[in-house]
Amino acid sequence: MINIELLVSKGLRIQEDAQDLLEKCDSGSLKFLLMSDGFVTLADVERAISLQKQELIQKPLENKRTFRITNWEPSSTKKGKVDSFLSYFRNRYKKLKRLLRQRISDFPVLDSFDKAKNLGGKLRVIGMVTECKATRNGNMLITLEDESGELLVVVSKDSKAFEKSKHVLHDEVLAIDGRMSNGFLMASELVYPDLPIKQEVKTSEEDAAIMYLSDLHVGSRFFMEREFRSMLAWLNCRGEGKELAEKIRYIIIAGDVVDGVGIYPKQETELVITDVFKQYSFFDELMCEIPDRIEIFVAPGNHDAVRRAEPQPMLPEEFFTRRMHRLTNPGWVEIEGLKHLVYHGTSMDSIIASLEHCDYVHPDKTMIELLKRRHLSPIYGENLIAPGDEDHLVIDNEPDIVHMGHLHKNAYSIYRGVVLLNSGTFQEQTEFQLRMGHVPSPCLVPVFECKTGKVQHVHFHK
Ligand SMILES: [Fe+2]
Ligand SMILES: [Fe+2]
Repeated sequence: MINIELLVSKGLRIQEDAQDLLEKCDSGSLKFLLMSDGFVTLADVERAISLQKQELIQKPLENKRTFRITNWEPSSTKKGKVDSFLSYFRNRYKKLKRLLRQRISDFPVLDSFDKAKNLGGKLRVIGMVTECKATRNGNMLITLEDESGELLVVVSKDSKAFEKSKHVLHDEVLAIDGRMSNGFLMASELVYPDLPIKQEVKTSEEDAAIMYLSDLHVGSRFFMEREFRSMLAWLNCRGEGKELAEKIRYIIIAGDVVDGVGIYPKQETELVITDVFKQYSFFDELMCEIPDRIEIFVAPGNHDAVRRAEPQPMLPEEFFTRRMHRLTNPGWVEIEGLKHLVYHGTSMDSIIASLEHCDYVHPDKTMIELLKRRHLSPIYGENLIAPGDEDHLVIDNEPDIVHMGHLHKNAYSIYRGVVLLNSGTFQEQTEFQLRMGHVPSPCLVPVFECKTGKVQHVHFHK
């Protein structure tokens, strides 16, 4: 009863079916439960155990490398039944509501729409968008949902919130300020959970560098093996730019490491390796040529051999003979004190299709939209989701560096003091991309210098 008593003494209530497992927890897991907001469920206890298990601090003494991986726990997602989706969306709402409540408000923030309906004066509500459409007279009508029901919100075309309302996405959670009138909330402002503003990019004491890769598509006839091998030679300090190459101690790979098999119709005509295991074995061979001083972190993407629905589990351990640190997608890794959010970026297609100002030329614009919403895949239905009691796609932590891929186009930008990187590709323009008018930026590799916060792009194109 020690664990239960400790949590109760801190003002928490424990759900009955969570009590047995809670007693089996060791004390290291309890710190994650102390962050709960009042009520500890079985899912909270399972999550705390997995967080503690995966909070691995590894410090090889010989070269002072420091990193910590936090992956999501695969057992926390369930089959796509209605109940699983219900608890998934409830958790999304709960997590984002908590973040939105941290935003400063000049008006009372109401806990439920029920209370709003009977109030006069200005107020703020928090809800999930179920619909957003233009009305016949040019205003915007947003249907919001919370645990108590629905609320119709009118954004007048004359309101300063109108421009923002054009960017509202289905299923996103946001706060809206306004005044009730005849059962409608007349909106004056839309507020995103967003990231806090940091004045400067975070740096670290260590004079080390981190290199970012994604979308190698090994096995595809468009994989640029010659250029990739010249990058491997550079990492082995052969050729120009040796000073920077020597500094690289970490490489993060954000998915699509192989082209896969059966990912799109007639893919076999574009493959030089038609067996997915042989694709991974060739990828592993290439990784073995990276010097041992470098720690490699690898996450899957939509072409990799794990389930397609997000969050995606780690790549299987047996694919690698070289020492690799496997990340989930999304996954978090803290390197030299710098918190990295690593996400392949598959949902960016749906954002680009929904928001006029986002495109395939500037991935950073889309990355900013995801960060504003503190969610990696806000639109349900476009990008496959594996539901569960917890929504692992909510960005509930604050990253220092965000690394994505998928669009095969490099991007580097700083948003609210956070470094945004899209690491491009090592695949030539495919026939599909040619038809779609997408122009990739292959063999351009971003490198972050931890001590100065500078990003350099190293070009391996012949
Ligand atoms: Fe890709
Ligand atoms: Fe991809």
